[in-house]
Amino acid sequence: MIPILVLHGPNLNLLGLREPQVYGRMTLEEIDRRVAQAAEPLGMQVRSLQSNHEGVLIDALHEARGWAQGVVFNPAAYTHTSVALRDAIAAIDLPVVEVHLSNVHSRETFRHTSMTAPVCAGSIAGFGWYVYVLGLHALKEILQPAAGA
Ligand code: DQA
Repeated sequence: MIPILVLHGPNLNLLGLREPQVYGRMTLEEIDRRVAQAAEPLGMQVRSLQSNHEGVLIDALHEARGWAQGVVFNPAAYTHTSVALRDAIAAIDLPVVEVHLSNVHSRETFRHTSMTAPVCAGSIAGFGWYVYVLGLHALKEILQPAAGA
């Protein structure tokens, strides 16, 4: 099994209650359950962590070097502000796929800029909870490319 870190940033603990018209009605617990389920047939095993604290997210990225082969990361609002998270992603030698539940490009202009996306392998936005599953598929293709790719 390929070990993967699924990392959720600030305020995502309130999913289900928080602006459901933007982020949907599914709780983070339910998303984590579905993502763990989707990981199995891909030969992946996920460990999920949510934090509202930048330093905790940085520590989780550093620690992932010791056990994970890739990261699916929703940095939430830190996407748009955090040089420290960008540097942490650049510092670890692991593929990181940035994901956003909402289509950040169709929202306020401050959400159009991502500090973190340029140092990620790629980014996926706008498909609700399913972006995490798409992120797993992207990592799978990075880590085990299909024959001929
Ligand atoms: C988000 C988009 C961010 O702009 C916002 O600050 C979030 C969630 C998303 O998943 O759509 O908290 O990352």
